[in-house]
Amino acid sequence: MGHASPLIQEGMPDVERRLNISTGELMREFVRPGKPVILAGLAEHWPAFGKWTPEFFSRHYGHITHEVKGVQYTVKEQMQLIQASTEESPAPYSYNLDIDRQFPELKADMEPLLLGRWDRLANRTLPGRLIRGTIKHEVFFGGLGASFPVLHVDLQHLHTQITQLYGDKEFFLFPPDQTPYMYPRPEYPLYSQVDHAFAPDLGRFPLFAKAKGYRTLLKEGETIFFPTGWWHMTRIPGPSISYGRALLERGNWPAYLKDTYNGWSKKSAVLAMAAYALGWCCGALMDLGEPALPLV
Ligand SMILES: [Fe+2]
Repeated sequence: MGHASPLIQEGMPDVERRLNISTGELMREFVRPGKPVILAGLAEHWPAFGKWTPEFFSRHYGHITHEVKGVQYTVKEQMQLIQASTEESPAPYSYNLDIDRQFPELKADMEPLLLGRWDRLANRTLPGRLIRGTIKHEVFFGGLGASFPVLHVDLQHLHTQITQLYGDKEFFLFPPDQTPYMYPRPEYPLYSQVDHAFAPDLGRFPLFAKAKGYRTLLKEGETIFFPTGWWHMTRIPGPSISYGRALLERGNWPAYLKDTYNGWSKKSAVLAMAAYALGWCCGALMDLGEPALPLV
């Protein structure tokens, strides 16, 4: 039985909320300095807001199947389960549902996209093959009691955006400089060894008690942005539909390219070198084509 960490229970500061900031402000104040922010008004005028409900997904995509922890569910079943979910018997939490593959026509529901002309995953200079395997847009379905309780850092040095389109979701975030208290797994350092992190066993993981992080309840309609390298986990208080997006811009581009290169080199060293060289050239071209950050 673990001892509840006071850090997880109380006293964690909230994430800063900003209303209607410009892309330039977002880049300058949060993306480049590596700080998280909640963008309160971003989704207000998106077609998705008010449209992405359990009824909508049941009616239009009910037949689509998706695997969660080795079990296949239809979207219709998932929608029933997230609404019937309880703390004792939580609905399966489905994540990594790729919008580009499963619901491509829904992408237009999230426009205007965050980062605008600084978004490299949408830059036409980048050949599709170079970014194959990177999920750019995804949807998460969850219910009361469901969670992603494993503290982790997102893959490939990508920044993350999550927008709550139905219901709320609670986030716990720890900055990269707290990594010494996160107990990264030796075999997979992007995941923490701290299990049951909402009530961690501080006898086993004493340094976790020193970690200083943030806690926020992301409300329906709100968007959180957090930069690469931030540890996070989530908890869901009721039926929830979230939109998730991976963000790549000039700042995290070199690390992204290197990560991707490491993935390729497991298959073929020659291919990896060629792809890295192509990626490097594309990066230089994108540097030239992107607007400078506005000063104000
Ligand atoms: Fe994540």
